[in-house]
Amino acid sequence: MLQTRVCRTFDLHYPIVQAGMAVHTSPDLVAAVSNAGGLGLIGSAFRELAAMREPTDRPFDANVVLAEPNDELLEILPAERVPVISSSWSDPDELVDRSHAMGLRAMHQVEAVAETRCMVGLAPDAIIAQGPESGGQVGRVGTLALVPAVVDAARDIPVIAEGGAADGRGLEAALMLGAEGVLIGTRFLATREAPVPESWKQTLLRAAPEDAWQIDVPDLVVETHWAGATARVLANALLRTWHGREDEIEQRRETIRSAIESAESVSDAEGQFLYAGQSAGLIDAIVPAGDVVRTIATDAAACLRSRVGGSDT
Ligand SMILES: Cc1cc2nc3c(=O)[nH]c(=O)nc-3n(C[C@H](O)[C@H](O)[C@H](O)COP(=O)(O)O)c2cc1C
Repeated sequence: MLQTRVCRTFDLHYPIVQAGMAVHTSPDLVAAVSNAGGLGLIGSAFRELAAMREPTDRPFDANVVLAEPNDELLEILPAERVPVISSSWSDPDELVDRSHAMGLRAMHQVEAVAETRCMVGLAPDAIIAQGPESGGQVGRVGTLALVPAVVDAARDIPVIAEGGAADGRGLEAALMLGAEGVLIGTRFLATREAPVPESWKQTLLRAAPEDAWQIDVPDLVVETHWAGATARVLANALLRTWHGREDEIEQRRETIRSAIESAESVSDAEGQFLYAGQSAGLIDAIVPAGDVVRTIATDAAACLRSRVGGSDT
């Protein structure tokens, strides 16, 4: 019931993709997702690509943020035999062509319909439509409006919905919007394998959707300039201190950064940026990542079956 073109194209049991989350992914997390039948995705910790060969023989993906320098990664991809490359935050023109020339699959993330139209000629194997409910760097158009509009603009390229999904209902909703899969980040942070401190995971369990703020403070501190992107992070003492005082950050940047480094060194969840999406409000347990994949797939299939059954009566 859940077999879509995304499953067939990327050789998956379930149309569930784990998000690129910079250094917050690990071979253990990626392998757990891929071994369970989804598509695990290594973030920007590319030195870990070689470590992927041992824990899984299933397909996995490496994420390239095009707004950042990535020549080094592009050099090593062929040797590391990464089956899928996904890209985000700039024009993937060359990357789609290079991936296909190397015999790899390519996906690209969009946050707007105009970008989707540009993608059609490049023919990536899938287009990811990212709504701003997502954690990390996000755009502006809500998932509910964005996904069907991207599906229409993508013509015959399969679309994967991203942002706000954390359970079977999210996958079901994505399919009902015309997407053929879902990409999930925040839910995978609250898993046993996720390489984030326990205090971060516990903060996710306590969060409500409204606790994930879309706010300039992290980018001003970290000096991230990705066109069209703003960070979404969980509210904590660090954010509350600097929210409304953004114009002071440039002068105080070094002090703030060193305080964050100290907080990170003792896993203090109140003193570091906890990137996460609004779906944090749907998470109530830290479980193995493979269970997340299987539970989402099983629950979505049950929801869809009950709706199909309901429409017959
Ligand atoms: C901790 C964290 C780090 C992220 N880092 C990146 C990143 O480096 N590059 C990127 O394109 N997206 C990044 N994202 C966004 C994810 O790729 C994805 O869009 C998002 O997690 C999906 O929405 P969800 O969090 O609601 O599941 C990050 C998300 C999180 C939660």
